[in-house]
Amino acid sequence: MAVELTFLFCLVILSVRANSISDKDLKGKNVIVTGAARGIGYAIADNFLANGVNQIIILDRNVTNGVRAAETLKCKYGRDKVIFILCDVTKDRHLWGDIVDEHGPIHVLVNNAGILEEDQPREMILTNSVAPIEWSLKFREYARNDKGGPGGTIVNIASISGYTIFPFMVSYVSSKHASLAFSKSLGHPYNFKKTGIRIVALCPGLTYTAMTAKQMAWDDQLEDFKKVTKDDVWQEPDAVGKAAVHIFKNAESGTAWKITGGQLSVAPEYLYMTDEEIENALN
Ligand SMILES: NC(=O)c1ccc[n+]([C@@H]2O[C@H](COP(=O)([O-])OP(=O)(O)OC[C@H]3O[C@@H](n4cnc5c(N)ncnc54)[C@H](O)[C@@H]3O)[C@@H](O)[C@H]2O)c1
Ligand SMILES: *[C@@H]1O[C@H](CO)[C@@H](O)[C@H](O)[C@H]1NC(C)=O
Repeated sequence: MAVELTFLFCLVILSVRANSISDKDLKGKNVIVTGAARGIGYAIADNFLANGVNQIIILDRNVTNGVRAAETLKCKYGRDKVIFILCDVTKDRHLWGDIVDEHGPIHVLVNNAGILEEDQPREMILTNSVAPIEWSLKFREYARNDKGGPGGTIVNIASISGYTIFPFMVSYVSSKHASLAFSKSLGHPYNFKKTGIRIVALCPGLTYTAMTAKQMAWDDQLEDFKKVTKDDVWQEPDAVGKAAVHIFKNAESGTAWKITGGQLSVAPEYLYMTDEEIENALN
């Protein structure tokens, strides 16, 4: 009896371990990356492919960049490894069913598409907050293992703006606070235990992409914004792509990570830049 029990116990432990290992293994996974036509999303797709994913499905609203990105990655990793689907994540959630039918099973969703347009707050909240929430809930319903799904992982690309309060880029900051809070809330261990859907957030700092090549702060704040951020260390998108691989392989559900100047660490819960700190940076 004792031997049988021990055997059963070992089997359970083994299957739980096998499960958790394969869940954190990129090999063989089919992965949707939104906004992967360029920038950070592209770097995530590139690094995921280098780490053995079966297929990357790029969803992007920019057809020129999307086709080019897919072509480059196909040349690098094989023609069957990459698919580009023209999709505006704020409008085209109805594509979900077709995507699953044609390219499923989907194991991983990376919500990366985002914009920084302080003059279009509504568009920005729709893109950076509403879209990742809606796509995550779609994926969750499809993949939750308490309803027969295979489980899976959602990676949300938030930002250091997701946990920081400072006086610049106020609508962007708001949009990223929402996406980070959503990540931690839906990814809470309570929900993970129930559904087998792991949700992790990655918060990049300043990264060289087309988004940050443009003016980021309002005209009347621009000079001060530049002074306050002058000591921030920039990074290449590839560093963020590598960080995404690392957290996929290691992070627990509900956790948030920051990558700044190429350095990955646990994200702080909250960071408030005081008026004194601002004034010091200005003088
Ligand atoms: N660059 C940075 O410094 C930085 C820092 C922190 C977080 N981020 C976040 O990283 C993500 C990627 O940013 P990036 O710097 O690579 O920007 P980027 O502008 O280079 O790339 C964004 C991609 O998303 C696509 N996209 C935008 N809106 C879309 C929509 N509605 N539907 C489908 N695709 C859409 C664009 O076409 C583009 O290909 C964003 O969520 C951004 O907020 C960037
Ligand atoms: C795609 O992005 C390029 C810049 O990289 C831009 O010139 C073009 O207008 C964009 N196309 C669409 C459909 O957004």
